[in-house]
Amino acid sequence: MSLEKLQPPTTHKQNYKLTRSATWLENVARNAFTLFRAKLLAPRSQGFVDQEKYISLEDTLAGAKQAGMTVEDYIDNVMSGTPGATRRTLQWMAQIGVFDDPKSTVVEIGPGSGRYLAQTIAACSPQRYEIYETAVPWAKHLVTTYGVVWQPTDGVSLSATPDASADLVQAHKVFNSINFAPTCRYWSEMVRVLRPGGYCVFDIMSDACLTPKIIQSWNDANLNFGSYPAAMPRSAAVDYFTSRDLSLIGSLLAPLGPGMTEVLVFRKTPADA
Ligand SMILES: C[S@@+](CC[C@H](N)C(=O)[O-])C[C@H]1O[C@@H](n2cnc3c(N)ncnc32)[C@H](O)[C@@H]1O
Repeated sequence: MSLEKLQPPTTHKQNYKLTRSATWLENVARNAFTLFRAKLLAPRSQGFVDQEKYISLEDTLAGAKQAGMTVEDYIDNVMSGTPGATRRTLQWMAQIGVFDDPKSTVVEIGPGSGRYLAQTIAACSPQRYEIYETAVPWAKHLVTTYGVVWQPTDGVSLSATPDASADLVQAHKVFNSINFAPTCRYWSEMVRVLRPGGYCVFDIMSDACLTPKIIQSWNDANLNFGSYPAAMPRSAAVDYFTSRDLSLIGSLLAPLGPGMTEVLVFRKTPADA
């Protein structure tokens, strides 16, 4: 039944008032519903987390403490069996010039335990470090430990980061652990948030990492149905970023599980080039 049918006959002025209050009520109801739905769908309140797939915060911190190691060394040396791997990647990034310019803002997707984050902060002391992370306990831990900004994480976008605002945007061991579609969404966002002259660093399990021997090692690991490890043709990444005003600066093969991953570094064309 419409609102009019419930009302006694009214003057034109009263009608206007009624329509206004009906509209006001509708707006209140609509806003309340929008807020409710946003809350329901918001990554943090909905619990869009995949920490079940990622390592446990408590176990890792306790293991590192017991071993007398930093979390980074504990993950590299003990959990992954690849001593010094994180440090080597960061040293290589420094060698090819990633940290030559001062960094005001760094954005990292999926920092997890923060092993690359800690070394990046040590290498360039950025004024602001934003993270997009779905594993809630680790994200909170990184906020407390390093004072980083945990941005609302929907799993595909960097929506809280303005265009052309980051000097470095990076993701380590993320794009070989998530599916194709979110990887591509993140690529487009990385390009968007990077400022001219900024660096983009990430790794993919590219063709170079797919030798018959390595494929057999993955078979033997018996991982079966999850999104990890996800492969990506090297040319897809290189073509995508070079078609968007970035140049490939260097690449490095690094250990990943029983196989390898290829770290790629791109640079957005500087404004004065
Ligand atoms: C394999 S771990 C790598 C962690 C860390 N970068 C490292 O190398 O130690 C993948 C990380 O990405 C996070 N992650 C998974 N899917 C994500 C998504 N769609 N958006 C942001 N982070 C994600 C996981 O919670 C985890 O921290």
